[in-house]
Amino acid sequence: MQDIIRRLEEQRARARLGGGERRIAAQHAKGKLTARERIEVLLDEGSFEEWDMFKEHRCTDFGMEKEHIPGDGVVTGYGTINGRLVFVFSQDFTVFGGSLSEAHAEKICKIMDQAMKVGAPVIGLNDSGGARIQEGVASLGGYADVFQRNVLASGVIPQISMIMGPCAGGAVYSPAMTDFIFMVKDTSYMFVTGPDVVKTVTHEEVTAEELGGAVTHTTRSGVADAAFENDIEALLQLRRFFDFLPLNNREKPPVRPTSDTAERMEPSLDTLVPDNPNQPYDIKELILKVVDEGDFFEVQPDYAKNIVVGFGRMEGRTVGFVANQPMVLAGCLDIKSSIKAARFVRFCDAFNIPIVTFVDVPGFLPGTAQEYGGIIKHGAKLLYAYAEATVPKITVITRKAYGGAYDVMASKHLRGDVNFAWPTAEIAVMGPKGAVEIIFRDEKNDPEKIAAREAEYREKFANPFVAARRGYIDDVIMPHATRKRICRSLAMLEDKELENPWRKHGNIPL
Ligand code: HXC
Repeated sequence: MQDIIRRLEEQRARARLGGGERRIAAQHAKGKLTARERIEVLLDEGSFEEWDMFKEHRCTDFGMEKEHIPGDGVVTGYGTINGRLVFVFSQDFTVFGGSLSEAHAEKICKIMDQAMKVGAPVIGLNDSGGARIQEGVASLGGYADVFQRNVLASGVIPQISMIMGPCAGGAVYSPAMTDFIFMVKDTSYMFVTGPDVVKTVTHEEVTAEELGGAVTHTTRSGVADAAFENDIEALLQLRRFFDFLPLNNREKPPVRPTSDTAERMEPSLDTLVPDNPNQPYDIKELILKVVDEGDFFEVQPDYAKNIVVGFGRMEGRTVGFVANQPMVLAGCLDIKSSIKAARFVRFCDAFNIPIVTFVDVPGFLPGTAQEYGGIIKHGAKLLYAYAEATVPKITVITRKAYGGAYDVMASKHLRGDVNFAWPTAEIAVMGPKGAVEIIFRDEKNDPEKIAAREAEYREKFANPFVAARRGYIDDVIMPHATRKRICRSLAMLEDKELENPWRKHGNIPL
């Protein structure tokens, strides 16, 4: 018996060593942790249950029959983050460059299937040279098996990808179908075709970092949701992020006890909106002052900054925040911000997370770039997402809510449950200047008359009461009481029930 136990321990030790000391040292030299070290940081201490530690590839080509490393380049299993169940796969770059073989894919699929059965999220820590070249089409089949599961799991369990090394070719499409992609700066990259192929085909010279590094994907492409400085920061932030999410689509979001009371007043909010309607202010200040303990996890903070999205808590419960940002493009909606917010709204709706929307939007961004880029279709995504959402929806208009953008931003007409306005709200078809220029075109050469018309229009429409008189606004609230009013609304809406008509699926304008 002792012998058998000793042999088991030896086998385990061999598996834990992955590609060996030399490759582990090379991994560390790049500033990267190993697959197992990453799991240790991510999960609660001692909670990891590893599966398929002894699984090996079955390839016999190119001398692979002589090269077997138990685990085959990916560590899989489950554990807990702050006591809550999660499944994890962590690709081991020290074993065949973390490349995906048939066996490697089977391991990932196994934990995905189990996660679906028990209703728990899957986190993928990606660090891989892509398809195992020696295996050819078997490896491609393995990818497709993972892709199919990504799609079936979408909207059922949260799926999160952390890119911690190379992720190239078709391999990018598994993360792309998960709910959130995070990256580590300087050591991770994602692209469909690498710099060499780009050079051959388009003659562009570009580095891997420029083409698909963390900065590129969090600022230019919008593929990734956040970038972190190093492995440790990334994994600790992932733990923080995980705490906001429900485990599956049948669960309510988690509640974290807080000493921050619903009654907390914020007098400084009474002066947040400047007297001059054209002067910007930082909408993040409102979010930070309203959420529990100022704890807000912003998603895509460096992309389409004219809209802010992210998670916070109100009386301990997770809430998704969407807010126009007057500091950038005056808070206009454009293609990128519409897509960014639409995807966020749909995630919240899929996972029962109430949505709080702060509105200060002068309209859609004008211009040929926007029209040629398809703002009609992309703006419609956000409209569609809000209209489709059945979770509790609370809206606070702080200042401008003009034109179509008023309708889009979780208005009463799109089944907004509670729609508030601050006294500074201006709800109208368009701003006073534009309106007067159109309806009083004849008087445009008389500045005095135009100024008087503008003042008249402002007086008449630049307030929340026209909308409130129609019931489009449920109440005009004091800014300092915003937190209290939202908390009460959320409590009232806790058992909200609303279902959309049956259909196979809607046809969101993609
Ligand atoms: C098998 C691989 C591998 C792969 C790397 N290795 N990629 N083995 N299949 N795809 C092995 C290397 O042979 C090496 O083994 C070890 O992993 C580390 O690789 P290095 O090249 O030494 O590391 P580094 O210099 O850091 O470069 C990493 C890399 C490079 C940029 C990822 O390895 C690379 O370009 N690999 C090939 C990438 C690729 O073309 N993949 C196929 C893409 S197509 P030793 O024994 O020396 O340690 C694809 C299609 C998916 O993925 C389609 C899905 C639908």
